[in-house]
Amino acid sequence: MDGTLSIRALTDADRGSVKALWITCGLVVPYNDPDADIDLAAGRENSDILVGTLADHGVVASAMVGHDGHRGWLYYVAVDPAHRDAGFGRVMVRAGEDWLRARGIRKAQLLVRKTNTAVRAFYERIGWAESPRTVMERWL
Ligand SMILES: CC(C)(COP(=O)(O)OP(=O)(O)OC[C@H]1O[C@@H](n2cnc3c(N)ncnc32)[C@H](O)[C@@H]1OP(=O)(O)O)[C@@H](O)C(=O)NCCC(=O)NCCS
Repeated sequence: MDGTLSIRALTDADRGSVKALWITCGLVVPYNDPDADIDLAAGRENSDILVGTLADHGVVASAMVGHDGHRGWLYYVAVDPAHRDAGFGRVMVRAGEDWLRARGIRKAQLLVRKTNTAVRAFYERIGWAESPRTVMERWL
């Protein structure tokens, strides 16, 4: 039995646990420094990092959320493998959606790496759809 997930904004004390979660979930890649990502996003007016905690386990889930004044974005959606299939991924995404909705943002988007095929089914299951857009990028 997994218990009830509590969701709140990340605090400094969560930094180690959330980085460990992201590594365990395969979300840390050489071109993104997790500490820099946390510093840029956590506790800002237009962005935050939400963590899901269980009383007996601490941080077991996360979602980074933010908006650019037009669209909302989710990143680092993660659930500890030991606590998957309990609905926590859905709850974290819904919390991110609510965060955006509360700020007047009408559409949420996220990027799925081409190699991450398994996660597409998860997003489709919770009501998301592939966007008929091409994403362009440039490193600054
Ligand atoms: C994707 C992830 C967050 C899902 O977390 P989770 O807590 O297991 O998901 P949930 O239990 O909330 O699942 C919600 C629904 O999606 C389904 N689902 C979850 N993962 C799935 C998968 N890989 N394939 C198909 N369906 C999936 C569940 O069965 C559930 O369906 P239901 O409505 O019939 O109950 C988790 O697997 C994860 O952390 N993956 C690694 C990190 C990652 O890739 N993040 C996304 C970056 S874009």
